[in-house]
Amino acid sequence: MELILKTENLWKVYRSGRVEVAALRGVSVDVMPGEFISIMGPSGCGKSTFLHVIGGLASPSKGRVLLDGNDLSVLDDAARTRLRRHKVGFVFQRFNLLPTLNAHDNIALAQHIHGDGFDPHRFELITSMLGLTGRMKHRPSELSGGEQQRVAIARAIINEPKIILADEPTGNLDTQSSDNVLGILRQLNKDLGQTIVMITHNPEAATYGNRVLHMRDGLVVDGANATH
Ligand SMILES: Nc1ncnc2c1ncn2[C@@H]1O[C@H](COP(=O)(O)OP(=O)(O)O)[C@@H](O)[C@H]1O
Ligand SMILES: [Mg+2]
Repeated sequence: MELILKTENLWKVYRSGRVEVAALRGVSVDVMPGEFISIMGPSGCGKSTFLHVIGGLASPSKGRVLLDGNDLSVLDDAARTRLRRHKVGFVFQRFNLLPTLNAHDNIALAQHIHGDGFDPHRFELITSMLGLTGRMKHRPSELSGGEQQRVAIARAIINEPKIILADEPTGNLDTQSSDNVLGILRQLNKDLGQTIVMITHNPEAATYGNRVLHMRDGLVVDGANATH
């Protein structure tokens, strides 16, 4: 099967003044379609940087990212943004919803901006799968943390992205909401075949996926290769 994501010797060096920080120091990883991968590792080891680079939010200093067969490293910013909008759905710890829009519009806006236009069937399928049907008129401030994260997940998957990239999606949630959100991610993976790469600090959260990728000091020290 074709890989959905492949990185080859990926480096990311941040420079501020004379100081250089190598956040990624040669990361080579394979992801198969339909995988649900957890990334674990100590704070500062490069997890978020890795997610940003594979999702086209940041460019690598060296090495290649192949996303659904497209080499991100040769694209300019505009082309990379276009590709990201069509192929990647991001979920963040702090939800990042627009506070003045209700849940419906937060999700629909993503479909208008990034997709091929509003698709009512897809909208209904996703919002009901995520248990959001009765919450569509509420603004983020009127929703619980768990509900806000479910809206953010709906927004991320509404355009049928090739891959969901989640950066500590349960980091701001209580245990019950965390379990609920993780269960939803597992359901999207199992029922829709959605490929997911999720950073987590929680060893239990990592058990929801099929593979754990361990990072340390800008390197993947375990779990880099698909086994099936
Ligand atoms: N925009 C940035 N500018 C400079 N250094 C950064 C930037 N983003 C991250 N870093 C540094 O890169 C390293 C990896 O950070 P990060 O990818 O956020 O790690 P993690 O998500 O595993 O906590 C850290 O040393 C961090 O301070
Ligand atoms: Mg991080």
